[in-house]
Amino acid sequence: MQEELARLREAALAEVASCGAEGELEAVRVRYLGRKGLLTQAVRGLAAVAPAERPALGALVNEAKDAVEAAIAASGERLAAERLAHRLAHERIDVTLPGRRRPRGHAHPLRLIEDEIVDVFVGMGFRVAEGPEIEDDYHNFAALNFEPDHPARDAQDTLFVAPGSDLLLRTHTSPVQIRVMRAAKPPLRVVVPGTVYRRDDLDPTHSPMFQQVEGFMVDERVSFADLKGVLVHFLRRIFGPETGVRFRPSFFPFTEPSAEADIACFRCAPTGAADPACRICRGGRWLEVLGAGMIHPNVLRAVGYDPEKVQGFAFGLGTDRIAILRYGIEDLRLFYENDLRFLAQFPS
Ligand code: DAH
Repeated sequence: MQEELARLREAALAEVASCGAEGELEAVRVRYLGRKGLLTQAVRGLAAVAPAERPALGALVNEAKDAVEAAIAASGERLAAERLAHRLAHERIDVTLPGRRRPRGHAHPLRLIEDEIVDVFVGMGFRVAEGPEIEDDYHNFAALNFEPDHPARDAQDTLFVAPGSDLLLRTHTSPVQIRVMRAAKPPLRVVVPGTVYRRDDLDPTHSPMFQQVEGFMVDERVSFADLKGVLVHFLRRIFGPETGVRFRPSFFPFTEPSAEADIACFRCAPTGAADPACRICRGGRWLEVLGAGMIHPNVLRAVGYDPEKVQGFAFGLGTDRIAILRYGIEDLRLFYENDLRFLAQFPS
């Protein structure tokens, strides 16, 4: 019995020592110390031993059990410590490393300027309307009082959807005047931001695709004074409260009388002297910023209004040009090349 116990004890300790994982230790514990374990059965074997030898043998059994239990506990701790050390070594993170920033997008500079322009008119009670970029001859030209042989209708200037087609990429936002006026009755105060297209080669000041904001007001007593008041207020909100503004006579088929508005070059204005080296006005001192006029009676008639009862003014401006002036940009193409080194300079 004694020898048997010693053998069991050695065998158990050897198995514990060879365990490489905590789960294996549990199997060893069950095999030796479980309810039917080999050492547990040895206790039962004591019944067959002479009563005088029982205490000494019992003590030996308990000692063997304690030793195996202690070995299992010690091994368990060692294996847990090793597992932890392994994880610490392999899952180490350097909490002092800088985080990885997600690049965050923002509005395009042309959209920022467009929003700013639209906001000024919304502040004066204008609502926003939009129209299709593919238009027909009627909305883009005919209803706007363009002569049948007007050069703008030529394929030289206008991008048609197909040769001989009546469909074209709108050359201005003015056709939205026609769409809104045909759908609604005065009084109207509307601004129309949008993309327009012309058959131009790309260079620092031309692009076949560019942006406009159209605006118009129609009511029973709208005059050229209203036009001037609204546009001067607008230009001073965009370019500064002291900005000089002048109106020059001009011509558009859809307005009569027509005008163009200029702002005084904000770089030259303080000195008042013409500076041919000025990057912005090149010595001209005035910068053309928009076209405008009183809506032509033929246009009012085309949308079913009575020109004897209602009048209106309209204007159109190039968003790209306003952006170029505001940001001091030399090359319009930058707006359309999607180079993030450029675009990232306009945080919203
Ligand atoms: N449609 C003109 C253009 O594209 C701009 C314009 C001028 C619009 C005068 C207007 C206006 O509404 O009254 O050049």
